Amino acid sequence: MENLSNLANALDYSDIIHLEFYVQEQLAKGKEICDLIIGDFDTQQFPMPDYLTAQIQQAYENKHNDYPPLEGVLSLRDEVAKQTKKRFNVSYNPDTEMLISGGARPLLYSAMLATVSAEDKVIYPVPSWNNMFYTTMCGGKHVPIETSEANQFLPTAEQLQAHISDARLITLCSPQNPNGSMFSKQQLSEICDMVVAENARRRAINAKPLYVIYDQVYWMLTMQEVEHYHPASLCPDIKPYLIVVDAGTKAFAATGIRVGWATGPHEVIAKMQVIQEHIGAMAPTAEQLATAVLFQNEAYLQSYLAGFKEKILTSMAVLHQGVQDMKGAGIAIDSFIPNAGIYMTLKIDAINMETPDGNVLENADQVSRYLIDSAGLALVPFASFGCRSKASQLWYRAAVCTISPSEIEAALPRLQTALLALTESKLLLEA
Ligand SMILES: Cc1ncc(COP(=O)(O)O)c(C=O)c1O
Repeated sequence: MENLSNLANALDYSDIIHLEFYVQEQLAKGKEICDLIIGDFDTQQFPMPDYLTAQIQQAYENKHNDYPPLEGVLSLRDEVAKQTKKRFNVSYNPDTEMLISGGARPLLYSAMLATVSAEDKVIYPVPSWNNMFYTTMCGGKHVPIETSEANQFLPTAEQLQAHISDARLITLCSPQNPNGSMFSKQQLSEICDMVVAENARRRAINAKPLYVIYDQVYWMLTMQEVEHYHPASLCPDIKPYLIVVDAGTKAFAATGIRVGWATGPHEVIAKMQVIQEHIGAMAPTAEQLATAVLFQNEAYLQSYLAGFKEKILTSMAVLHQGVQDMKGAGIAIDSFIPNAGIYMTLKIDAINMETPDGNVLENADQVSRYLIDSAGLALVPFASFGCRSKASQLWYRAAVCTISPSEIEAALPRLQTALLALTESKLLLEA
């Protein structure tokens, strides 16, 4: 290892991927596992829009297999501008304030690379998805903010305020991964106002700005009667400091179709584009053209999204009902349907319990491996999203679109048996 760079030594796969590797090993041994780990789709159960498939095929037939323009194809940038204006009443110039990329990840990474220098502070809430890895890749200083159930695992302005005076970046995500909660108008307005005030202070002393990355890749999958807010629609003054990242990967059940888009201030977007040139993380031309046509077909898109969300809720209802039945029977488990997205949250109180093999479950990772081994059910602990608090060890994410509802149903009795097999730890009782 000493032959490799500091970054290579510091960086590893996410805990989510490590857990998935473990599940794949067990599956290869012939074990039956209801695998709810990865935020992906069983493409038979949750197909991407037929129209998108047809448009991609058409684009390749039209020989659109050349290099895409670095900034992304114009028709898609135009559509992103139109959609952002229509949905959120926020205007971006498609020529100077927008970048198309190979999904959301290159945009998150390049936005961070464009704003954060080595040792700059990056504030991110935990649990949250992958901010810790991008911060490490940029050499930034990690400032994780531990959130809690009381605030639906979203950060408050008050929590952030304590850290912003010398920070370079805040990364936010709504709807949130892992638990699908969304900022209310008031919560998000308070954060935006705080960022604007901090930047006014910095302008007066000629200091570098405080930027915000706002990841909204699940917003088109908003369910229930909840509204998704764009920071600049609540607080237009935040626009010079705001980079919004979005993608079709999750919203169109098209994780392999790698199309994402970012909007933001010209100087940041322009440098993200330079970084993108060197990384070569562009989205394929055909996929971009097809995504633009999908957006143009508004009636089709809305009807697809409505059907997709109904299917997600059907899968969630199966898991929710099963867990609620167990809860009703006195088992220490609970489940929560999210505001948006593809993940359900489970609360499982199994820390310090003893397994039939005599092992005491000391943390959420051990609980999750016990459930894989004994119940054939794979969940991701919130601890895998950067949480360190004791309270966070009770929470787990279930990605319900990876498998059919009947396979989820089949795993429920196994889960019940595995939880009932846990006993109070004799060791801890004696201690
Ligand atoms: C909040 C969030 N942002 C971004 C991504 C990555 O999206 P993409 O596959 O478009 O790179 C994910 C993937 O799980 C995610 O959960």
